[in-house]
Amino acid sequence: MIERVQGFYGFTRTLFGRNLAPSMLHRHGAHAEAAARIVWCINNRALGVITGEVGAGKTFALRAAVASLDPARHTVIYLPNPAVGMRGLYDLIVTSLGGTPRFHSASLTAQATEALAAEVDERGRTPVIVIDESHLLGHHELDAIRMLTNCEMDSNTPFAVLLIGQPTLRKKMKLGVLAALDQRIGLRYQMPAMTKQETDSYIKHHLTIAGRSDPLFSDDAVDLIHATSRGLPRSFNNLAWQSLVAAFTEEKSMVDESSTRAGIAESVATD
Ligand SMILES: Nc1ncnc2c1ncn2[C@@H]1O[C@H](COP(=O)(O)OP(=O)(O)OP(=O)(O)O)[C@@H](O)[C@H]1O
Ligand SMILES: [Mg+2]
Repeated sequence: MIERVQGFYGFTRTLFGRNLAPSMLHRHGAHAEAAARIVWCINNRALGVITGEVGAGKTFALRAAVASLDPARHTVIYLPNPAVGMRGLYDLIVTSLGGTPRFHSASLTAQATEALAAEVDERGRTPVIVIDESHLLGHHELDAIRMLTNCEMDSNTPFAVLLIGQPTLRKKMKLGVLAALDQRIGLRYQMPAMTKQETDSYIKHHLTIAGRSDPLFSDDAVDLIHATSRGLPRSFNNLAWQSLVAAFTEEKSMVDESSTRAGIAESVATD
């Protein structure tokens, strides 16, 4: 089905494909702002918290920021999902920095701290610890992150920490025992959704990448997709794709408002 839709509309690449090079990302306000702030956080070896709703573009903004770093001067330690717990995080830190994790937790924690310091002192590289989906971190784990940052955060921090997650993360960090971690946050940013003007340019951008530079969605179709997706990129992609499939089944050369209504009804029905 995907191939037939692609062929019918003359795409040379998958529409909304996820393997976009950093230079192919769309630079709407929230994306550019989040990427710039992540870079600031790294340059200042600070603790940063970037939040946004599901599919707001958090991981893509992180990718853009990381791609702009000098690889000779940074070591990015990326944890895609914190379900591995603190042990998993310390293991990852040690192995990413070339060590073999020690068995006992207490000595593993010390090993991770030492490895982070050595990366700066001996190799002149800033470690950047990124924990994606951080809203899944429990209190215990957030407190362990406080301990990790505790060592030298108050004087000269040897590394940057980025917690990326859904908006509940912000609320969680305000709670009692975590106030100490909350006070250490050097940067926080909540990614807003795209504006109507931004979604207009976002869809054009994705269509151009897929090989279509002429309009394929009518203005009222884009208006409706924008309103229904609330300007969130992943939701926008899904609804636009379903609208395109609806137009395809009627062999329409453009996606109009009625195809979009059908596409949205289909998305709601399958959700
Ligand atoms: N700057 C961008 N340029 C092009 N496409 C984008 C951009 N930002 C987001 N997208 C699209 O939106 C989708 C969702 O983005 P991303 O995975 O970054 O969201 P997220 O906020 O990390 O979501 P989740 O909460 O599920 O982790 C991407 O797969 C991509 O198709
Ligand atoms: Mg993500």
